[in-house]
Amino acid sequence: MSSPAAAAPNAADIKPATGKLGIMIPGMGAVATTLIAGVEAVRRGFAKPIGSMTQMGTIRLGKRTDDNTPLIKNFAPIADLNDIVFTGWDIFGGNLYDAAKTAGVLDRDQLDSMKPFLQSIEPMPAAFDQRWVKRLDPKVQKVGKNKCDLANQIRNDIAEFKTRTDRQVMIWCGSTEIFIEQSAVHQTLEAFEKGLVDDDENISPSMLYAWAALKEGIPFANGAPNLTVDIPALRELSKKMNAPICGKDFKTGQTFLKTVLAPAFKARQLGVAGWYSTNILGNRDGEVLDDPDNFKTKEESKLGVLEHIFQPEKNPDLYGNIFHKVRINYYPPRGDNKEGWDNIDIFGWLGYPMQIKVDFLCRDSILAAPLALDLCLFMDLAARTPSLRGLGIQEWLSFYFKAPDSAPGVYPEHDLFIQSMKLKNTLRHIMGEDLITHLGLEYYGE
Ligand SMILES: NC(=O)c1ccc[n+]([C@@H]2O[C@H](COP(=O)([O-])OP(=O)(O)OC[C@H]3O[C@@H](n4cnc5c(N)ncnc54)[C@H](O)[C@@H]3O)[C@@H](O)[C@H]2O)c1
Repeated sequence: MSSPAAAAPNAADIKPATGKLGIMIPGMGAVATTLIAGVEAVRRGFAKPIGSMTQMGTIRLGKRTDDNTPLIKNFAPIADLNDIVFTGWDIFGGNLYDAAKTAGVLDRDQLDSMKPFLQSIEPMPAAFDQRWVKRLDPKVQKVGKNKCDLANQIRNDIAEFKTRTDRQVMIWCGSTEIFIEQSAVHQTLEAFEKGLVDDDENISPSMLYAWAALKEGIPFANGAPNLTVDIPALRELSKKMNAPICGKDFKTGQTFLKTVLAPAFKARQLGVAGWYSTNILGNRDGEVLDDPDNFKTKEESKLGVLEHIFQPEKNPDLYGNIFHKVRINYYPPRGDNKEGWDNIDIFGWLGYPMQIKVDFLCRDSILAAPLALDLCLFMDLAARTPSLRGLGIQEWLSFYFKAPDSAPGVYPEHDLFIQSMKLKNTLRHIMGEDLITHLGLEYYGE
């Protein structure tokens, strides 16, 4: 027996985006400073928000013949950039002008043109533990009697920020933490909260921020590959508090291209014998990832992509023996300007081999900043939308992640174009518009 259909969502039920939106960022390094300086540059009319779907993307409504394709920000009630206020935490002290100079992503002249604004934001002392990020030495950090105390100090910081803003979202732009598997303390909220008091060694700093945000009813997005909210305990808290979650690991450079190319080979039934990916990167992220335990977290996140797209068990002749390798090499001269090479060994008709080489000279944080902005704005939209806010994981935001979180038993979607369709159809759905299936038979009937 089928269950009764849920009432169709109604755009009028979405709370409007009035008032100030507070964006809280644990980890104010290269990505965070490029995001914040970038939003300010756009607000002042110095530059365009290129790469941001919420700011520049369009969405088709109705039939192709209807000629109705508004900007997404004019279609869905997304917060205005002028209403955003930033805060965050880090271990380096100082202010964001200094942090942005250290990150070395944006030109000095561009930073100088916004100097007082950037100097006005000073990261709060972080909840940090060097066990999780071995290559960094903190200058400032919170001190507490146990993890529960540290997490409650974060809640106090959030409470103060709530007095200055109307709604809040949190996005982890902190360093990649060392690799861990899920364990008993991650399985239920009760076990997790006991673990906070007992200083359980499997609770990482990023989990403290996530717990604090969710306890305050604030959505949490994870830009790094750490487990963080991808554990049953925090999924439970997310649903309980109607505070959306999503992650993991911004899909910016090499993996972005991988999830464009791999679906193309699969669509044409071209086989893949091997895919070798290597990178050089010289920023602080690269330095942190130079440690094998931290790299393992990133490696796991990057490796899952091909497995899910190619489904070798369903296509053994084409993908059953694929050799997939990913490397990141710390190389300081390049700073934030990463170079990623891919060698792809494919084969076609009758098994004849061919090769493809990709050389992507990208700018890591220039690619990541617009994704972080979109995630904050879409998570705020989700929190105001009755049909989304109680779901926990926001799978429709998979588009932004290398290792998208998904419901237990549901494999993640990695194909960039499926992800993009899913995102736009979710927007149509919550706004009460018809979904677009691309069937198109109606154009050819009588
Ligand atoms: N830039 C990209 O293209 C990209 C893509 C995918 C994922 N990421 C991930 O995003 C994260 C940020 O990248 P980035 O280039 O800005 O790195 P970054 O090293 O410049 O910044 C990270 C910041 O986090 C801080 N930090 C570490 N632990 C913290 C804690 N417990 N609390 C508060 N702050 C803490 C560090 O001091 C540092 O300033 C990294 O985990 C990276 O792997 C970046």
